[in-house]
Amino acid sequence: MKSFNGSITKLTSFSILLLFLFSCSTFTSTEAYDALDPTGNITIKWDIMSWTPDGYVAVVTMFNFQQYRHIQAPGWTLGWAWAKKEVIWSMMGAQTTEQGDCSKYKGNIPHCCKKDPTVVDLLPGTPYNQQIANCCKGGVINSWVQDPSNAASSFQVSVGAAGTTNKTVRVPRNFTLKAPGPGYTCGPAKIVRPTKFVTADKRRVTQALMTWNVTCTYSQFLAQKTPTCCVSLSSFYNQTIVNCPTCACGCQNNLTAPGSCVNANSPYLASAVSGPGQSSNTPLLQCTSHMCPIRVHWHVKLNYKEYWRVKITITNFNYRMNYTQWNLVVQHPNFDNITQLFSFNYKSLTPYEGLNDTAMLWGVKFYNDLLTEAGPLGNVQSELLFQKDMSTFTFEKGWAFPRRIYFNGDNCVMPPPDSYPWLPNLSSKPVISLRRPFMTILASIIFLLAYV
Ligand SMILES: *[C@@H]1O[C@H](CO)[C@@H](O)[C@H](O)[C@H]1NC(C)=O
Ligand SMILES: *[C@@H]1O[C@H](CO)[C@@H](O)[C@H](O)[C@H]1NC(C)=O
Ligand SMILES: *[C@@H]1O[C@H](CO)[C@@H](O)[C@H](O)[C@H]1NC(C)=O
Ligand SMILES: *[C@@H]1O[C@H](CO)[C@@H](O)[C@H](O)[C@H]1NC(C)=O
Ligand SMILES: *[C@@H]1O[C@H](CO)[C@@H](O)[C@H](O)[C@H]1NC(C)=O
Ligand SMILES: *[C@@H]1O[C@H](CO)[C@@H](O)[C@H](O)[C@H]1NC(C)=O
Ligand SMILES: *[C@@H]1O[C@H](CO)[C@@H](O)[C@H](O)[C@H]1NC(C)=O
Ligand SMILES: *[C@@H]1O[C@H](CO)[C@@H](O)[C@H](O)[C@H]1NC(C)=O
Ligand SMILES: *[C@@H]1O[C@H](CO)[C@@H](O)[C@H](O)[C@H]1NC(C)=O
Ligand SMILES: *[C@@H]1O[C@H](CO)[C@@H](O)[C@H](O)[C@H]1NC(C)=O
Repeated sequence: MKSFNGSITKLTSFSILLLFLFSCSTFTSTEAYDALDPTGNITIKWDIMSWTPDGYVAVVTMFNFQQYRHIQAPGWTLGWAWAKKEVIWSMMGAQTTEQGDCSKYKGNIPHCCKKDPTVVDLLPGTPYNQQIANCCKGGVINSWVQDPSNAASSFQVSVGAAGTTNKTVRVPRNFTLKAPGPGYTCGPAKIVRPTKFVTADKRRVTQALMTWNVTCTYSQFLAQKTPTCCVSLSSFYNQTIVNCPTCACGCQNNLTAPGSCVNANSPYLASAVSGPGQSSNTPLLQCTSHMCPIRVHWHVKLNYKEYWRVKITITNFNYRMNYTQWNLVVQHPNFDNITQLFSFNYKSLTPYEGLNDTAMLWGVKFYNDLLTEAGPLGNVQSELLFQKDMSTFTFEKGWAFPRRIYFNGDNCVMPPPDSYPWLPNLSSKPVISLRRPFMTILASIIFLLAYV
């Protein structure tokens, strides 16, 4: 009777946990802002540095204040609508994608006459006389946590047919930021206190004549992307490997989209990878049941008396993508007490006061900061060592598995919680520590055989 009652309670709390996990994961896919980075934004600062006979010269800088979301190749695209009949005489460190109709100009032809110019960064290797500081990285911007020294991108623009005083000049409207797809929404440009610049020798401070700020925020919901990443789970105490949910990021469909994926052992692999779509970076996925470009595997590897150990493996299934500067955000209650982390960088994220169950992980420079294309080398691994808090630690109810994982800022699809590997029920409490060495060895062997 007693054990019956016990299992009922266990079952109930398990389903409560399931419910909680479910509501979390459904909530995140529709929310308009990111709960793990509530103030994350990209701020565009527009500093007017000097007036010209018919306008002004401005330095425009984009600061990526997002903790973990970066902009990767092929980079950002910035657009706006002029308030009057402004033109761009010239640019440094960036260019507009189209010149537009400059036919009414004779002699000096502007760089761009469009009412709604679209600007892109220049590529690395641009001649020095066309560069300014923080430019020319092909539109790639790193995240604030990962590399603040590369989290900004700048260009200089010389605007004509504009106002030439702080009373006649007009703020551009309708800023659009693409990275390069949709997802960002930009607010109106606001006049703010002029930026102050300190000279290199720190002996003089100059200031902009006028400064406007625009704030852009990201929403995965707006980006309307299909998921790009999924999570699989395993543990030493149960030989079940819970794979990513089937069709987590799409389905293999031979009828409507033949060739949407390619088998790893296909004789046509090489020709498919270099086939049409190679230049446009169209993803070419290895055929899997989940069809995700990225899989994150969380393996509960070892149990010590006061510690436990997890192995994380990130695998790339896209034959046409090298992920530079990749990052992972992981939420698990034991991150408040992480003891050691091997071969990844780590920073605790505290989106709210007192909440420190979230960590950002990323690769070590020149070692594993590049997650290479699908294939035998297309994975990175790390192990985490947590100290147990005896009052909360348990292998039951899926507690040892992550609550959520983001790869490059995108929410990864988790397996349904009721499929998580279970602790064999006969060894609920004391048996674990008794049987630990045997179980551990057995499990490592199983894991090695099954997974390597
Ligand atoms: C943008 O991010 C910065 C840095 O985190 C923050 O100080 C600022 O308040 C944010 N702006 C908005 C409008 O959220
Ligand atoms: C314009 O400049 C004048 C004098 O330099 C200053 O008093 C005024 O506040 C400025 N207006 C704006 C909108 O910056
Ligand atoms: C800005 O966008 C709004 C709504 O999309 C539009 O009504 C307005 O005309 C645009 N303004 C300019 C200057 O293009
Ligand atoms: C404007 O943006 C700059 C750089 O992002 C920031 O330092 C400054 O605080 C912002 N000003 C306001 C009023 O938000
Ligand atoms: C698609 O084709 C592959 C290989 O030909 C096959 O293994 C797979 O089952 C097919 N999928 C569907 C949905 O028919
Ligand atoms: C990925 O990087 C490797 C090594 O730097 C390179 O050989 C390969 O062509 C790259 N693949 C893609 C798709 O960019
Ligand atoms: C996490 O937060 C708790 C309570 O707010 C605090 O006691 C603990 O030291 C924090 N841990 C870390 C690693 O910051
Ligand atoms: C980590 O856990 C141990 C054991 O419960 C505890 O003594 C220690 O204070 C914890 N450290 C933090 C930072 O929470
Ligand atoms: C392992 O976990 C699965 C759930 O994923 C469960 O069905 C199975 O019974 C567990 N195995 C043991 C030995 O407890
Ligand atoms: C363990 O599970 C088996 C079958 O799943 C069940 O018959 C047995 O009563 C369970 N034992 C305990 C102690 O809950």
